[in-house]
Parts: sequence; structure tokens; C-alpha cells
Amino acid sequence: MKIHLLTLSLLLTLCAVNAQKKTIAQKVDSVLHLMTLEEKVGQMNQYNGDWEATGPITRDGDKQNQIRKGMLGSMLNVTGVEHTRQLQEMAMQSRLKIPLLFGQDIIHGYRTTFPIPLGEAASWDLEAIQRSARIAATEAAAAGVHWTFAPMVDIARDPRWGRVMEGAGEDTWLGSRIARARVLGFQGKRLGDTDAIMACAKHFAAYGAAIGGRDYNSVDMSLRTLWEVYLPPFKAALDAGAATFMNSFNDLNGIPATGNVYLQREILKGKWKFKGITVSDWGSVGEMIPHGYAANNYEAALEAVTAGCDMDMESRSYIGNLVKLVRDGKVSIALIDDAVRRILTKKFELGLFDDPFRFCNDGRAAGQWDNAANLAAEQDMATKSIVLLKNDNQVLPLSKNAGTIALIGPLIKSVRENLGFWSYQWPDDTARIITPWDGIARKVSGATKLLYAKGCGIDDSSRAGFAEAVAAASQADIVIMDVGEAPDMSGEAKSRSNLHLPGVQEDLIRAIQATGKPVVVMISAGRPLIFNWTADNVPAILYTWWLGTRAGSAMADVLFGEYNPSGKLPISFPRAEGQIPIYYNHFSTGRPAKSDSDLYYVSAYTDLVNSPRFPFGYGLSYTRFSYSDITLSAPAFRPGQQLTATVTLTNTGKYAGRETAELYVRDLVGSVVRPVKELKGFTQVLLRPGESRELTFTISAVDLRFYNDKLEYIYEPGEFRLYVGGSSSDVKEAKFVLLAK
Ligand code: BGC
Repeated sequence: MKIHLLTLSLLLTLCAVNAQKKTIAQKVDSVLHLMTLEEKVGQMNQYNGDWEATGPITRDGDKQNQIRKGMLGSMLNVTGVEHTRQLQEMAMQSRLKIPLLFGQDIIHGYRTTFPIPLGEAASWDLEAIQRSARIAATEAAAAGVHWTFAPMVDIARDPRWGRVMEGAGEDTWLGSRIARARVLGFQGKRLGDTDAIMACAKHFAAYGAAIGGRDYNSVDMSLRTLWEVYLPPFKAALDAGAATFMNSFNDLNGIPATGNVYLQREILKGKWKFKGITVSDWGSVGEMIPHGYAANNYEAALEAVTAGCDMDMESRSYIGNLVKLVRDGKVSIALIDDAVRRILTKKFELGLFDDPFRFCNDGRAAGQWDNAANLAAEQDMATKSIVLLKNDNQVLPLSKNAGTIALIGPLIKSVRENLGFWSYQWPDDTARIITPWDGIARKVSGATKLLYAKGCGIDDSSRAGFAEAVAAASQADIVIMDVGEAPDMSGEAKSRSNLHLPGVQEDLIRAIQATGKPVVVMISAGRPLIFNWTADNVPAILYTWWLGTRAGSAMADVLFGEYNPSGKLPISFPRAEGQIPIYYNHFSTGRPAKSDSDLYYVSAYTDLVNSPRFPFGYGLSYTRFSYSDITLSAPAFRPGQQLTATVTLTNTGKYAGRETAELYVRDLVGSVVRPVKELKGFTQVLLRPGESRELTFTISAVDLRFYNDKLEYIYEPGEFRLYVGGSSSDVKEAKFVLLAK
């Protein structure tokens, strides 16, 4: 009886869900029926809100008139209760009163500003990353935003590309998990809740592989690499329910992504059955003209809509040409209806037809400022993002009674810089930002004296401040330096050919190190930088990315041992630009170098070693972890069965610490060559000094799949290696065999 009741209630729920779905589909159809062709095309049109004018709202009378005429589906960069309300009111004056969608790049927080995404990725903490996106969504949704243009899930193997700061690094497996966490965070329990915003997986696709790391550049890659390395994070975002996708600026093998039928029509909307909205990147429909793929906006609009791009962000190719394209018989009304249906469906799902103002809520918006829970989550995320690169002689952690500490460097008193790129929605109110100086000053005991010297600017050629900095260091018992990039050196259109610490900063470090005082260097940057002298000579180095409004507080927690650093690099750090692209999961080649000193007639440079300065997955702790040998449940297994690998992890040091144990595999012989290592799992554990824990990883045949030369996703029987360790280059090894079925 119980079972019957359960089944009945399940059936009823399913019916209700279906009825609900049907209702939305029916509602969409009934609106679509009422729309003129011009109004339909208007829905496929998105404008910017001219936020730099006097506030985040458009002052452009033309745009306002288009809203009133129902010729606009969405605006970006309009935020805040007041401004979104004003524009939505204009939309309510249009004939069909179709509400506007407001989108914005909420990349690492809205008010509460979390570490840049690459920094968050260094935490490998999927729960914390999801929480960060959840908080960003809650805050943005209260301020009238419906849609974030995030997460960026582009795999990036080239740190010259400034947008490495915006993604999860170089690894497909980790990037896919983080993509999922971010989508789940942004979209919450379900779209339609007033704390959920639409996520947007971008940039579809392969934007991160721009040749030479130069932004907007062409991408030329095999379809195998596309499917195996670059597409999985998009698929993970889609499987997590991402409501929207953004196409990209680059051409892929000669066809601009925005007009790419294979990417959008065949893969995304075909094979993957994506039902949400695809939006162009900023102006990318019109940019098919300079690409040399369309002669004019008329042709560009034709290419984009045919390829499956539903909404034109700011190029005005759709609004000016789609009506004519339909009338000329070049574009079928079915294509237009499909795009508009997708856009209206999301507007219904968000509940905007019931109440277009439900996301404008003064009370909710106000509740986000200085929200203690959000700030605590930010602090947690920021401390977990810091990576300890070096700690010779256990210089760290420092004592709060350290006597005199000299705080030196162009970033030690940095304020707004701590927010990093993509934080333009942060108001001028900088008093809420905890600078490195503030964080340290609040942490040390009253007896500790702090000295300050800037030393030099970030990108300065002047050494005029060195003498003052050396004098401060000479009077101190210990020196803490904060050096790095300016925050706008990494980000969109911020490709760089020279990744060395900018200006004379490394010379400043040399001068300070020469005083003989113990030196701790913090490096704040949006990408892997090159700092070989520092890495060779300075005893303690922390990589701090851009950590957000609590930066100083998080840094101080780590410096003084209240948080034992646990971050691991999500991207390889090169020794020289000449090694780029550099990534751990490369192929073996026919002449692999056995070591960094194996140089002749092997795949190596004659003037530079192959290994990175700091490898993927690397990061130290104040304590030490030791890994036992790996025990496998069996030497061989068959598809359908599982293999377990067990190691004992022991904290052999003096501090409690959190370790990320990483699992890699290698397929020794394949029908296509396979990477020397591929991440297949990880687990995080907190261990007290002396404590041991048995860690178990499972592998089954499906984890060993790859794309063969026919683009079939398969596994092949044969011999494998399995590795477990604390970094991609420091692992224990075991062998196993995958048997035939
Ligand atoms: C970027 C996108 C971003 C869009 C809107 C473009 O330039 O490539 O990632 O979402 O602008 O700001």
C-alpha cells in the first residue's frame, strides 16, 4: 500500500512537472503567435547599457525607444534595482510587454568579491567554488540581474593569454568539475527562484587555444583535441543545466565560432540537445566581416543565425538584417521562431512574465552589503586559493610577535587592485577592502613593529625607492614583500609576450634578499608569472592571485599560520616564455627526453629544460605529507568491473594540514597516442600531525575513454599506469591491465 501511495504521488509530481513544462511551452507559443516578425527579431537583439555614462543605465534615446517598441530582448551591464526597474518599465510600455533580460559578467562575485576564477581553481575545493557562485548569484539577483556571462570554461594552456585568469586552468578533468560547480552555484535549486541567475558557459568553443596566446586570434586544432581537451567542460556545464551558452571571437579551423554550424547547430543543439539560449560574444556576429567570412552585416547575420546563434550581443547585425533575410527567403521563419522560443522560454522560467520586477528588490539588495556569512565564505575561499610555492627553513608561518617586520613592495598597500579584473561593478567604496598591509597590521601583536617602503612601482623602470626599502629591511627581523602584476595586466585583451615580474620588481627582491634578512615574497597576479631568481634564492614564496575584498585578511591568516596553505596549481608555471604552451598532460613523442639534462636528438630545447618551474597540481603545506605505496584491488580488471587503488596518507609534520591527493593514469599503448599523465580524480583530507588516513580511488573502464581517430569515445584494453601523489610530478606508481570484455 505504501509503495502504491508513493508511486501515485511520484506520478502526480511527474504529471505536475509535465503540466508545468507544457504550460510554459504553450505560453511561449501563444506569445509567439502574437508577435510580428520585427518583434521576434527584436527579442534576438541585445544592447549594452553604457554603464560608464552616469550610472549603469542607457542614456541612449534610440535604445530606449527600441525598448518601448519591443525591439530589444536583453540588455547587458545594467544593474541595480533602480536602473533595471527603469528599463523594465519601458519594456512594459511595449505592445506585448515582453520583459527584458538583464545580463552581466558576474565573474567572481557581485558585491562580495571572491578570488579570480583561476585563484579559486587553485583551491580544488568544489564545494567552496559552488558556494562562491551561489553567493554571487544571490547578490546579483537581488540587484535586478537575471543572467551572468559565466562560467568561462575555456581550457587554457598558454599563460600569455590574459584570460587564463578567468577560467579553471589547463586541465580538462578538473575544469569540467569546476564548470559544473559554478553552474550549480549560479543557478541554485532552480531557475525561477529569486536567488538564481542563468549561467552562461563560454566561449564556445576553443577560445583558450588562441595561437600564440594572443587574444581573439585564430585557433587551429585537430577535432580529436577539440573533443578530448576543449569540449568536455562545456558538456559538464550543459549537464549541470547551464541555461545559456556564449559563442566566441575566434575562428576554429577557419570558421568563426559565431558562424560555426558544426559547433552550435551540430554539436550543441544537435548531438547535445541543448535547449537554452546561445548568445554571441560582444559584436562577434559583425566581426565575421573582418574575419573575412562575411562581406557585410547582412551576410554575417545569415551565417550566425544559420549556425544557431540565438542572440546578437551588440553587433546590430540581427536587428538591421534578419527581417530582410526572412523576406528574401534566405532565413526560414522556423529558424527565427526556434531562437525566439528559446529566449521566451527562459523569460517564463525566470518568472518574468508573472512579475518583471521580481529581481529588483531594495531590501534583498541592501542585505548583501557587509553580509557576514558572505564575507566569511569569501575569506574561506581566499585562504584556500593561496598556494605555497616554497618554504625553505620553515620561514613560514611567522610569529605574531616577530619583533620588527618590514612590509615592502608596490602591492603591499594595494587597495582596489586586490579585486582583480572583472570587478568593475564594485563601487568607489574602497574602505571595505582589506589591503595586505591592513590584514597584517590587524594580525600581529601590539609589540610587533611594522615598517613600510614601496620600493618601486609595478611596471616601473626607476630604482629610486630601493634605498629606502633596503633601509627598512635592514632594520627589520623579517621582510614580507608583495609584488606582481597590475590587475588589468591579466584579463580580456591582456595578452602579454613577456611574463616576467614586470618592471624592476625582481631587482627590488634581489636588493632586499641581499640584506640577509629572512624574506617572504607574495606574488599577486592573474596568471602564472616568471620569477626564476626569486624562486632560486628567496626562501618563502606564496602565490596569492587576486583574492578579493578580504585579500589582506586571508594573506595574514596564511602568513601567521592561522590557515595552513592548501592550494595546488591548476596550471603549469613556465621557466621562460619559450616553453609555452606548457602543460603536464602532453604526449610522449617518439624521442622523449628522459630528464631535464637529456638534450641531444630528443624532444627538448638545447638552451632550456623541458620541465616547468612549478608543475600542475603542485603546492606545499606547512606540514609534510607522505604517501605510502599504492595497493591495487587486482592487477587486472574487465569493463563493467571496478579497480580500487589505496594509499595511506600520513601527516608527518608539526601542523594540522589539508592535502589534495591527486590520481593520474597513463594508457601505455593506444590506437592514438595518449598523454603521459591524465588527472582522473582527487580527494581532499584534513589530517592532524601524526595522523594517517587510507585513501581509496576507484577506476572503471569508462574513466579510461578517449576519442580515437574516428572520433569515437572508447576505451581500449591494455596496460596502464596509475599514479597517486601531491602534484603531477611527485607521485607513487602502480601498474594495471584493462582486459577485453
Ligand atoms: C567578452 C565576454 C563578455 C562580453 C560581455 C566580451 O568582450 O569576451 O566574455 O561576456 O564581452 O561583457
